Formats: sequence, structure tokens, C-alpha cells
Amino acid sequence: MEKPRAVLFDAYGTLFDVYSVGLLAEQLFPGQGQALGVLWRDKQIEYTRLVTTSNHGAHYQPFWALTRAGLRYACKKLALDLTPAREEQLMNQYRHLSAFPENRDVLQALKARGVVTGILSNGDPDMLAVAVKSAGLDDLLDHVLSVDSLRKYKTHPDCYALGPQATGLDVKQMAFVSCNAWDALAATWYGYRTLWVNRYQMPFEELGTQPTRTGSNLRDVLGFFES
Ligand code: LAC
Repeated sequence: MEKPRAVLFDAYGTLFDVYSVGLLAEQLFPGQGQALGVLWRDKQIEYTRLVTTSNHGAHYQPFWALTRAGLRYACKKLALDLTPAREEQLMNQYRHLSAFPENRDVLQALKARGVVTGILSNGDPDMLAVAVKSAGLDDLLDHVLSVDSLRKYKTHPDCYALGPQATGLDVKQMAFVSCNAWDALAATWYGYRTLWVNRYQMPFEELGTQPTRTGSNLRDVLGFFES
């Protein structure tokens, strides 16, 4: 089988560690940091689906706004006192999420093989630009694709179509990498070769389709290039 000519990565949860906010959350709300991190993330993603599937996108809000809404909801649900100062601290932390340590090496290894690299993310362009810059990945990414111009979120197929549109490649010549099982599943359905990075020893989605490959960190993407 032809090796992929391009590899696109999901951003939040895949290149950037969304649970790295947990440390600050734990300082602000002792004993509740982890629960807040998980609920915040779940609600953020739930909101992306709600605005994508309702009223033909009339209620679309950029990912930054949905991230803030998810934080507010999660704090209310957990009965945490989210003062304006705490909200700004947590949102600021979200803007500068830690990058997973192997990112740079993996992107460098792909570039050395002449592979086109990119991000395909729900994040809005401002968020992605700051995250990419803070992680020092600017020089290693050929494309930073945001769904924002479409005003709909993954897993809408128009979002996955951004990859072939931007690279001029057929989707079958492209690989997509995500740590989010739902994202890896939908990209597989769309036609990408996929790597699901199962960082948290989770089961894959039970919907009858498996990702092309499963790994434990981003280095496993290099498996697509072994002969
Ligand atoms: C993204 C979400 C899925 O970056 O985390 O697209």
C-alpha cells in the first residue's frame, strides 16, 4: 500500500494536552482539579455537537467561546466558585496548553521523509496560532486547518474534507491522527488512514469500525512508513 503523503493531526487532546489545565484547576479547587478537567472537556465537545446539529448552524460559536461555556457549566455542576479572576486564569491556561513531549521529534521525522504535515482542528484560528507558537511547532507544520470558516465542527464530513482540499491529495493518500476515539472513528469513516493514539487506556468506540492503527503515543504514526 502506498505510504501516506500527508499526515494531519487533531490538536486538542492530540498535540496539546487538554488535561494539563488540571494542575491549575487543582490549585484553585483542591480535590476537584481532575473532575473539573474531565467535565470541562466533555462539555466543550458536547457543545460542538449541539451547535453543529441544531438549526443548520444558526447557533455556531467559535471553539474559544464554547470552551468558556464548558468551563462555566462544569464549575456550576461541581458547585465550584468560578470568580471572573479564576475564569481568566483557567482560560489563559487553556490558551497555552502543554504540548506532548514527543511532538517535535515526530513532526521532524515526518518532514525528513518529505511528508506534508498539518493540524485539522475544531480550534479557531487564534487559539491554534497561539498554541502552535507556544509549543514551537510553527516551522514543522505545513497546514493549520481550522473548521471555523465552515461554522461547523467535527465530526461533520465537511470538516474532514478540509484536508484533501488544502493538500490537493486524495483522502486515501492521507493519514489522520487523533487521541480522541470519536475523531479517529469519524476520520476513518471519511476515508483517511487513521491512527488512534490511546493515551489513557480507553476502549475504542463500539460502532463496528476500527481505526487503521492504534498506538500509545504520537511516535506510532511512523508505523505508517515502515516497509
Ligand atoms: C480538536 C478537538 C477535537 O482539536 O480537540 O479538533
